[in-house]
Amino acid sequence: MEPFFLSSLLFIFLFFFTFSSAQMLGFVSLDCGGDKNFTDEIGLNWTSDDRIAYGEISAISVANETRKQYTTLRNFPADSRKYCYTLDVVSRTRYLLRATFLYGNFDNNNVYPKFDISIGATQWSTIVISDANTIEVREIIFLASSSTVSVCLSNATTGKPFISTLELRQFNGSVYFSFYEEHFYLSVSARINFGAETDEAIRYPDDPFDRIWESDSVKKANYLVDVADGTEKISTSVSIDVNRDEMPPEKVMQTAVVGTNGSLTYRLNLDGFPGIGRAYSYLAEIEDFPRNESRKFRLVLPGQADISKAVVNIEENALGKYRVYEPGFNNISLPFVMSFKLGKTADSSRGPLLNAMEINKYLEKNDGSPDGEAISSVISQYSSKDWANEGGDPCLPVPWSWILCSSDQQPRIVSVLLSGKNLTGDIPLDITKLTGLVELWLDGNMLTGPIPDFTGCTDLKIIHLENNHLAGVLPASLGNLPNLRELYVQNNMLSGTVPSEILSKNLVLNYSGNNDLHKGSRKKDQLYVIIGSAAGATILLLATIVSCLFMHKGKKKYYDQDHLISLATQNPESKSDGHAEVAHCFTFSEIKNYTNNFEKKIGSGGFGVVYYGKQTNGKEIAVKVLTSNTYQGKIEFSNEVSLLSRIHHRNLVQLLGYCREEGNSMLIYEFMHNGTLKEHLYGPLTHGRSINWIQRLEIAEDSAKGIEYLHTGCVPAVIHRDLKSSNILLDRHMRAKVSDFGLSKLNVDGVSHVSSIVRGTVGYLDPEYYISQQLTDKSDIYSFGVILLELISGQEAISNDSFGANCRNIVQWAKLHIESGDIQGIIDPALRDDYDLQSMWKIAEKALMCVQPHGHMRPSISEVVKEVQDAIAIEREVESVSDEMTRNSVHSSINMGSMDLAATENYLAIDDSIARPTAR
Ligand SMILES: *[C@@H]1O[C@H](CO)[C@@H](O)[C@H](O)[C@H]1NC(C)=O
Ligand SMILES: *[C@@H]1O[C@H](CO)[C@@H](O)[C@H](O)[C@H]1NC(C)=O
Ligand SMILES: *[C@@H]1O[C@H](CO)[C@@H](O)[C@H](O)[C@H]1NC(C)=O
Ligand SMILES: *[C@@H]1O[C@H](CO)[C@@H](O)[C@H](O)[C@H]1NC(C)=O
Ligand SMILES: *[C@@H]1O[C@H](CO)[C@@H](O)[C@H](O)[C@H]1NC(C)=O
Ligand SMILES: *[C@@H]1O[C@H](CO)[C@@H](O)[C@H](O)[C@H]1NC(C)=O
Ligand SMILES: *[C@@H]1O[C@H](CO)[C@@H](O)[C@H](O)[C@H]1NC(C)=O
Repeated sequence: MEPFFLSSLLFIFLFFFTFSSAQMLGFVSLDCGGDKNFTDEIGLNWTSDDRIAYGEISAISVANETRKQYTTLRNFPADSRKYCYTLDVVSRTRYLLRATFLYGNFDNNNVYPKFDISIGATQWSTIVISDANTIEVREIIFLASSSTVSVCLSNATTGKPFISTLELRQFNGSVYFSFYEEHFYLSVSARINFGAETDEAIRYPDDPFDRIWESDSVKKANYLVDVADGTEKISTSVSIDVNRDEMPPEKVMQTAVVGTNGSLTYRLNLDGFPGIGRAYSYLAEIEDFPRNESRKFRLVLPGQADISKAVVNIEENALGKYRVYEPGFNNISLPFVMSFKLGKTADSSRGPLLNAMEINKYLEKNDGSPDGEAISSVISQYSSKDWANEGGDPCLPVPWSWILCSSDQQPRIVSVLLSGKNLTGDIPLDITKLTGLVELWLDGNMLTGPIPDFTGCTDLKIIHLENNHLAGVLPASLGNLPNLRELYVQNNMLSGTVPSEILSKNLVLNYSGNNDLHKGSRKKDQLYVIIGSAAGATILLLATIVSCLFMHKGKKKYYDQDHLISLATQNPESKSDGHAEVAHCFTFSEIKNYTNNFEKKIGSGGFGVVYYGKQTNGKEIAVKVLTSNTYQGKIEFSNEVSLLSRIHHRNLVQLLGYCREEGNSMLIYEFMHNGTLKEHLYGPLTHGRSINWIQRLEIAEDSAKGIEYLHTGCVPAVIHRDLKSSNILLDRHMRAKVSDFGLSKLNVDGVSHVSSIVRGTVGYLDPEYYISQQLTDKSDIYSFGVILLELISGQEAISNDSFGANCRNIVQWAKLHIESGDIQGIIDPALRDDYDLQSMWKIAEKALMCVQPHGHMRPSISEVVKEVQDAIAIEREVESVSDEMTRNSVHSSINMGSMDLAATENYLAIDDSIARPTAR
């Protein structure tokens, strides 16, 4: 089969490559990268995506994952293009679309992929892989507005974009009807089967629409935690009537949890939130109890007092036992970390009951480029060409490879670049409907027929139609285009005279090589070029366009050009580069003088003792006297130091120079006024005034950026090997810099803390590195995870008494708490309540990922930077977000007018006066 795939990469289609459902039920199940069609054990018919022209196929193998669709995937180049799947749908019909991603380390890369997916022109989600063996799933529910829907992968930030499956499920009739569906998609954040008997999710065939109902017994970090005491599972085999609308499958409704102690409580993360969503619970009374007993309860959501006014009595609301009652909200603002409680009323003898729940977020549709329709009609003439099959919106999220778009909210097509594409036939008339067009390049094709009327394209500046077989006259209307500056029509079969409107215009014009085209009435008047001084400009312009077209965003991703310094020369002798100053060699007497004979000791660490110094010019310095005398020879030492002194980054402590005399090796650094992070977290400096959460986040961001630079900005990459809170230094403004990088390399066989090979500090040391002695950048990630835990908890990495019996290690301790949902238990009391729980959770979860036992499971430092920045954003916008959300809900209420049930009935959900909250 292998050669077949290779050739399919070069394959030029002879037909549209949309995927349509040849099945009942309107199901399409694409096995991306699969080589044959098959039916799986639950009866889904999978088809191979072999009609996709782009990308490569990879085979993967993941422990305990035997489903065939997860043994292959399709991956795409990490470039600035988008790669789309186009699926046939029936307009005005509702669908569920599911995309899944199982990485399986297909590219044997340390960098986990991160990329975006879009549906049509709308940014759907960012896929961030954080574990090679976990399937990432994204689901969206939508009302089809045309006959196809496209799903595109783009914006590879790290690694290569890839996809494992794409599943389209058609709903029946009014299922998931919403007043907002014309303008919003519904992305699925949670769909839970409570009281599930196994960990298995319930889906097709139990759910005829193949929705996936996750089992509530699956243990994932921060998924259904804070479960109340006395929560019990119940189930029944009595049949439940679910044969209407989007009811969950019977099997889901036949199980439930009951709060035997009077309440049910849960907390869970809602992907995609905070935002406005749709939240439904599904309830059926499946317990038999005596007539004199009752089950009544209220929903309590923090900060939404109105909601808890309504009392639920399932049996009454559903008009009987074993029937479904589905209270919900169509328009509710929810946080990222949602806590909820169902509490029994005082007069109820039974505790609350919950069978299932679904929470979706509204995702505003982007209508895409207004030129979409016109350009589709243009490309429909070239359906066999692969450039005409790139799919998705012409401009969003990134434009097709052969067009350029404006940067408006609703982008217009400004350039069409189809030179030399073997185009035949007439110039497509619809191209004149692209009214935002500035440049048109159709030269070097085999186009025939007349030049159409471009009167509507008033922005047109440059038209290239040369080297075709165009016939007819040169339309006078071209002369009336107000912005036209360049017109090339040479080497065609045009005839007649060049209209005076064109001749009189200030224009670069070339109409040579058209045997029957004449200037004015005179025959055989071959007018050659007009170009003059504009020629240079044209070439320049061409160069610009070319460089835009081929600019590969992807290529730059690992390096930040602004920061990329001359380490790339990798030659310590090289002095030619402006940045590449060789480390300054201080004399011993200078150092003695600056430090006042090593008077003031400001620190000590694994590598030596640090003294304060002040140069004669007033510049403050820190002098590190290395304790070991076994450093390399003098030349190697100065070379190594030179290399380190060339690493410049605002979040790295600058090495200014060195001194190697009288048996001493010293390194001279910039002085950092506020000492080490360690001192501020739990050292004597805190004096009860510890640094607050936002400062801690900023310190985390700064130091992560420093490490990111070492890992990705330096050539060769630098692995720190000894990250710890005492190696994070703080300047005057409490901004953090990482120190001591590169030192362990310097120290060939000197002091080390663990063994002669493995270097690092107990408590921060990557266990995998310790065992395997294979050093990777992921060892630094482990250490950084420990630092994040220190920032959260204000605890030392290793302590004999802080973490309770049998636990000396912050990682074990924090893991235990975080995974059981008890984050409060580890938060530094010194932070009081001055933090947002969401940002805390974000950091806590990232920290746990950083300290995963295996390096390949840990995120890259860039991931960590991103997460910390997100947390900072949450923290900074706690105020404005809540304002925003109020505004948003007001805004959507206005849009939806009087149809907005949620706006008029804040607590309609559990209000028994409204038996059917959705208007179906
Ligand atoms: C799989 O099925 C689709 C349609 O259902 C068909 O077009 C395609 O040729 C089949 N592919 C293979 C490899 O059999
Ligand atoms: C799979 O294909 C078979 C045979 O064409 C069909 O009977 C069945 O309904 C299909 N299953 C689904 C889930 O579409
Ligand atoms: C795979 O399944 C077996 C048996 O169910 C289990 O012991 C093992 O831990 C699983 N492995 C992974 C990687 O989940
Ligand atoms: C691509 O992703 C990066 C980082 O996630 C983001 O900053 C950038 O805006 C994205 N670009 C596009 C075109 O969406
Ligand atoms: C779809 O709706 C029709 C009419 O309401 C019904 O007969 C049919 O069983 C439904 N199909 C599914 C899969 O629910
Ligand atoms: C019910 O709550 C009480 C305290 O509120 C607790 O002692 C008891 O263990 C709980 N019952 C169950 C079954 O968990
Ligand atoms: C155009 O056609 C020629 C001859 O058929 C072929 O060699 C060339 O590769 C084609 N160019 C493009 C861009 O399709």
